[in-house]
Amino acid sequence: MTDLKRARDISERKKYVRSLFDSIVPGYDLLNRVLSFGIDTGWRKKLLGLMGEAGGAAVLDACSGTGDLGRMMREKGFSVVSLDFSLPMLAAGKGRGWIERPVCADASRLPFRNSSFAFITIAFGIRNIPDRENFISDCLMALAPGGRLLILELTRPRSGITAALHGFYLGRILPFIGGALSGRMHAYRYLSDTIREFADPVTLRKEILAGGFSSVRVTGLTFGSATIFDCARP
Ligand SMILES: C[S@@+](CC[C@H](N)C(=O)[O-])C[C@H]1O[C@@H](n2cnc3c(N)ncnc32)[C@H](O)[C@@H]1O
Repeated sequence: MTDLKRARDISERKKYVRSLFDSIVPGYDLLNRVLSFGIDTGWRKKLLGLMGEAGGAAVLDACSGTGDLGRMMREKGFSVVSLDFSLPMLAAGKGRGWIERPVCADASRLPFRNSSFAFITIAFGIRNIPDRENFISDCLMALAPGGRLLILELTRPRSGITAALHGFYLGRILPFIGGALSGRMHAYRYLSDTIREFADPVTLRKEILAGGFSSVRVTGLTFGSATIFDCARP
């Protein structure tokens, strides 16, 4: 594929993803709870637990959505900038008081180059970024030396019966419940397809190390249906 064709494909995919998220803002957070049986809150708490004491440390929450994770970090004393390319997501979060400092931008072109953040977090966002190698390298520039990138992402269980049940849930249940409750079946079909097609944790870990991070600690959650990548900047 030529560079130009790849750039066009990437920008088309981003346009599609942005309009998809714009369209599911009403009810989005409630559906997250319903579709994950409430487990997503526990996964966010697990990520928060890895961050230790806040002491006012600066965090960039990339692909923040309405700020569900950001508000938990602010409650703990972190100073949070919430970045998303969907203006309706940021506006909904700001309206609810979940987002204090919104930035509307593409996560793979971060408007921060000054090594100022102690943490960058990204919850359920990285699988939507087609040029994630840019996101990884931009994180290195935005993080302070010794800072950490914490990625929480939906992944696929590996072992027999759990993998089969998870596959059934993704293919046959999630798009229908999500579609019925939001009126946007295609959006929830896309979300379930991206989980199935996304890189496995071993591959993503290799990509992050190749991108320049010095270590990546991988923690599987709930039989591997979600994974946290705790990545240290040199
Ligand atoms: C599945 S939602 C996750 C939202 C939030 N982090 C949460 O935990 O609920 C993914 C979010 O990533 C945003 N997003 C996807 N690709 C992006 C990109 N390239 N740059 C900025 N935001 C992006 C979408 O607009 C959406 O709000």
